[in-house]
Amino acid sequence: MDIIEIRNINKSYGENRVLNDISLKVAKGEVVSIIGPSGSGKSTLLRSIADLETVDSGSILIEGYDITEKSMDKKEKKKILLKTGMVFQNFNLFPHMTVRNNIARTLKVVKKASAKEADEITKQMLAKVGLIDKIDNYPNELSGGQKQRAAIARAMALDPDIMLFDEPTSALDPELVKEVLDLIKKLRDEKTTMLIVSHEMKFVKEISDKVIVMEKGKILEEGTSGKVFENSSSERVREFLKK
Ligand SMILES: Nc1ncnc2c1ncn2[C@@H]1O[C@H](COP(=O)(O)OP(=O)(O)OP(=O)(O)O)[C@@H](O)[C@H]1O
Ligand SMILES: [Mg+2]
Repeated sequence: MDIIEIRNINKSYGENRVLNDISLKVAKGEVVSIIGPSGSGKSTLLRSIADLETVDSGSILIEGYDITEKSMDKKEKKKILLKTGMVFQNFNLFPHMTVRNNIARTLKVVKKASAKEADEITKQMLAKVGLIDKIDNYPNELSGGQKQRAAIARAMALDPDIMLFDEPTSALDPELVKEVLDLIKKLRDEKTTMLIVSHEMKFVKEISDKVIVMEKGKILEEGTSGKVFENSSSERVREFLKK
């Protein structure tokens, strides 16, 4: 079974058709990158999968459960949505909480973890992302790359089956990009299913099992890195990748 299956979704903002009949399947452990020009609908697609946007039509199945099904029981839906974790461009850490509390509080609130359990998982996740020495610092005391790694640790702490990344490095200074990309590579080696929106073409080419090229709400092309980057049949795709 595919871990994500998107069937013919559509979404418009007024007259602007942002997602135009998008269908997509992601298998467990697969790394799928979404590229395309600004405004092509990449973030809207990811946000729809995380249920942060409501689509107008079509369905989105996560592990076989249709999250667009309006009659779904609220508790059931919450459980299914916890299967996905999302990381944003601007980290979205709680500024008034230390790194420890950003993660531990989330575990307590979302997963109803005990204090002891939350603290253990927090330390484990911070060790994994190489930030254990920053555990009692506040977000504004961290570099951009460290903030993003803390945000990834927080999302991973909830033990999602799928990670969604929306331009995780685009707010970072060039010298900090590598540490975040290296962490994402590590997650791939652990067979985490990931959907990644990124403008880091070299990284996308290297990490992806599948690359999706979007334009104006549509999928222009879908294929392996090799096919999309080196052997695209679409002139539009070749043109976009030249830039
Ligand atoms: N809340 C909103 N209300 C109205 N229009 C929106 C809203 N969110 C997005 N849009 C529009 O939807 C389109 C797709 O936006 P989206 O953010 O998905 O693009 P994107 O591919 O992620 O672009 P970028 O690479 O710049 O992040 C754009 O035309 C945008 O202006
Ligand atoms: Mg975007």
